[in-house]
Amino acid sequence: MLAEHRLKVFQDLVTKSSREELIWMNGFLAGMVSAEAGDPAATMPVAATPAIAVNKISILYGTETGNSKKVATEFATQAKKSGVTVKLTSLDQYRLNDLAKEEYAFFVISTQGDGEPPLTAKKFYDHIHQQNIALDKMKYSVLALGDTSYPLFCKAGEDVDAQLTKLGAKCVVPLQKCDTDYAEDAAAWFSQVMRSLSTGGSSASPAPVAKPSKGKKNYTGTILTNLNLNDRDSNKQTHHIEIGVDGELHYEPGDSIGFIPRNKKETVEAILAVTGADGDALIEFRKEKYTIAEALTSKINIIHLPERVVKQYAAIVQQEIPDTRIDLLDLLRIYPVKDAAQFGEVLKVLEPMAPRLYSVSSSPEAHSGEVHITVARDKFSINNEIKYGLCSDYLSQLGVDTAVEFYVHKNSQFKLPAPDKDVIMIGPGTGIAPFRSFIAERDAVGATGRNWLFFGDQRFTSDFLYQTEIQNWADTGVLTRVNLAFSRDQKSKLYVQHKMLEQAAALWNWIEEGSYIYICGAKAPMSTDVENTLLQVIERYGGKTVAEAQAYLDKLREEGRYLLDVY
Ligand SMILES: Cc1cc2nc3c(=O)[nH]c(=O)nc-3n(C[C@H](O)[C@H](O)[C@H](O)COP(=O)(O)OP(=O)(O)OC[C@H]3O[C@@H](n4cnc5c(N)ncnc54)[C@H](O)[C@@H]3O)c2cc1C
Ligand SMILES: Cc1cc2nc3c(=O)[nH]c(=O)nc-3n(C[C@H](O)[C@H](O)[C@H](O)COP(=O)(O)O)c2cc1C
Repeated sequence: MLAEHRLKVFQDLVTKSSREELIWMNGFLAGMVSAEAGDPAATMPVAATPAIAVNKISILYGTETGNSKKVATEFATQAKKSGVTVKLTSLDQYRLNDLAKEEYAFFVISTQGDGEPPLTAKKFYDHIHQQNIALDKMKYSVLALGDTSYPLFCKAGEDVDAQLTKLGAKCVVPLQKCDTDYAEDAAAWFSQVMRSLSTGGSSASPAPVAKPSKGKKNYTGTILTNLNLNDRDSNKQTHHIEIGVDGELHYEPGDSIGFIPRNKKETVEAILAVTGADGDALIEFRKEKYTIAEALTSKINIIHLPERVVKQYAAIVQQEIPDTRIDLLDLLRIYPVKDAAQFGEVLKVLEPMAPRLYSVSSSPEAHSGEVHITVARDKFSINNEIKYGLCSDYLSQLGVDTAVEFYVHKNSQFKLPAPDKDVIMIGPGTGIAPFRSFIAERDAVGATGRNWLFFGDQRFTSDFLYQTEIQNWADTGVLTRVNLAFSRDQKSKLYVQHKMLEQAAALWNWIEEGSYIYICGAKAPMSTDVENTLLQVIERYGGKTVAEAQAYLDKLREEGRYLLDVY
């Protein structure tokens, strides 16, 4: 249809454009065509934006796995192309004292944990909630990234939006909440933001209409191997699980995979018995229809209910229940519902089963058609009764040949550098998972950069996860250095941070020579202890003051050379 030279220009534009730019162009062209056809409902996203009346904005993002950063960066690029000066900053790098001076601030922020802000936005989040700052100069809007599978959808974005208004800032485009397929909704929000700039933010834009979410791409895999890596006399059970997938499977080292666990059959049956509910009766839960038995098995969280749910339960059964977390079955036994109809009311206030993530421990290059995970079976005791975490227990029991559903959770922050760069990997316990993936990948592609691993656990004889592989990688030189810390093999506790201190001079040299540093595993206390140790190394061997060492580490973080995946 197009002449050859115009086709070439078109193809060139399309191949060099990002996904968000393509979506924008798509909207622009659709709007143009519909407008020509006289369609009154036609929308022309950013194209309809008259000349921009504002020349300077800030785009501030809070991210954990990189999505908000990607979106914010894309929008900053587009805004710059429209002639606006943009200050693009991660909220952890942002000078909080500047907030009150901001005139146009646009926030892109995800939600983590159970409705919490990402780690990188925590200081900002606390600051606006704890300080009584006057933000009456500020015009703002919030783009909230989240996932409807979690109980508190986009809660951090909602909180930030509400708090900015409370502090006197003026919202120019209403809060836009986005599910995991956020590209279109985010682009629509950004179009509104650009329009608002054309009026200098003097009139509030209508809320962008959110598109129905297409949901995540789910894979069905088959368990190929499920092996406890710990020896019999260990205190722990850590399962190496290999999942085979027929057909295409897309993931990269540094990503995680997510599962929705299943509640135990006997617990579901006990709930039905105690409430008199008919397991085959249909209910609607989060806009989908299920039988009650199906919903209680795999859609609804019935374990360790949060206090907010217990409060609602108390209101339904009209009983005084202390503020506490408790399993649904215990709640029903201690504070029974009147009848099955009242249980129907309870079902309405229960929350969806949150997904659980596990770092990928395989490499697409080395383990084609498979994805591996390393799962610690979570064991704890309540009133002297041993209990197990729902998902880790479920995964650890999966037999070979069982079918299992999962999705890939991308983490664009926690990625390997170029093959010629050096990496330092600090991953005790299940923190080893992404590093098994990293090392296998670098081995498979023949990466020339050096690899240094710090691993630790309780005992050498029973808890050296992936011992044979690690020793092989050390023998063949894939691992340039390995340092191991087994905490219970001697009188005093020995952890990875102690090994780092022993190796401080070499560690400092690697860092100065451009190495990338990765930490994975327990957020507390491990990642804090390791970070403090790194600061000590920088201080001592770099001849720096405490403040200079902190600034040095902040710079590494800014350059993407200090990366954490902690939970
Ligand atoms: C990005 C990311 C990567 C991760 N990677 C890994 C990995 O590679 N390997 C790995 O093993 N884990 C990993 N995790 C952790 C994992 O996602 C789960 O959080 C972990 O397995 C526990 O989930 P669970 O369902 O087994 O336990 P849950 O059932 O969620 O229980 C968790 C905790 O809640 C409390 N609790 C639960 N039920 C009760 C109850 N009835 N009464 C009282 N208290 C209770 C206990 O303290 C328990 O330890 C990762 C997490 C993230 C966010
Ligand atoms: C451990 C974890 C917990 C999460 N908790 C929530 C939540 O409570 N509410 C929500 O809406 N989304 C939640 N999400 C989904 C993220 O907000 C979503 O994946 C988002 O796109 C991540 O953006 P980011 O990469 O910028 O951090 C959670 C994701 C993870 C990994």
